[in-house]
Amino acid sequence: MIQFKLDNGFKLHLEKSEKVFTPTGTTEVIIEAIIENNNQKKTTLDLGCGCGVIGLSLFKNGLVKEPLFASDVSDVAIDNVKVNAKKLGCHVEAKKSNLFTEWKNKKFERIVCDISSISSDVAKFSPWFNSVDCQTGIGGDKLINEVFKTISNYAEKKCRFYFPIISLSDVSSIKSSAEKYLKNFKIVKKKNWPLPETMFSRIDFLRILKEKKKVDFKERFGLVICYTEVYEAIIA
Ligand SMILES: C[S@@+](CC[C@H](N)C(=O)[O-])C[C@H]1O[C@@H](n2cnc3c(N)ncnc32)[C@H](O)[C@@H]1O
Repeated sequence: MIQFKLDNGFKLHLEKSEKVFTPTGTTEVIIEAIIENNNQKKTTLDLGCGCGVIGLSLFKNGLVKEPLFASDVSDVAIDNVKVNAKKLGCHVEAKKSNLFTEWKNKKFERIVCDISSISSDVAKFSPWFNSVDCQTGIGGDKLINEVFKTISNYAEKKCRFYFPIISLSDVSSIKSSAEKYLKNFKIVKKKNWPLPETMFSRIDFLRILKEKKKVDFKERFGLVICYTEVYEAIIA
């Protein structure tokens, strides 16, 4: 069981198995971005839902037309979402799915994609992906680029699509793929955050990846500063 909190005081208690992703600052900034920019009740798909924290936070803030749709490649995550939704009184349709594969013929008014999108080489020594799938390639762009390519098949007219770009990825590859496949998209929120100290021992490797433009960060006063940007696209 974990407690999830936003800066505005919003709190949720969630069942989260050991093998399921623990929500981070990126989770928080995605939810805040949606609350600030798209505060209407919509049919919502939480793609890469983990324990369901994003979809269920939106539900508790009155932004989800039930059922909440949620999917993840992890079976355990889907079990967690079902338990959490029941406890919070949210009708949910949750299923195991690789990207959109199990949502054929379904369309949504809002899609939030928080599928793994940091460099798989960085994920290996990060504290976030122990037993969580992160087959994203060295630039972290493999899965999200695939989502950009296919999202229009799952979007109602004027569907709002939210996704993060995390600086521990090939930011320019993700942005150019977004430019190619999404008609219009804009940044709606950004948060800087410090690299966890447990990753400092790999700083030389991170500097090499930065040289190769596979990740981005700044070094200031002994800290390594990363960022998460949240983007909104309107899918025609
Ligand atoms: C960064 S975590 C986010 C989880 C949750 N949204 C949160 O904030 O706690 C990424 C999630 O994407 C899932 N994932 C990884 N590869 C996937 C794929 N190919 N299809 C669907 N989900 C995937 C992982 O299992 C993980 O739960």
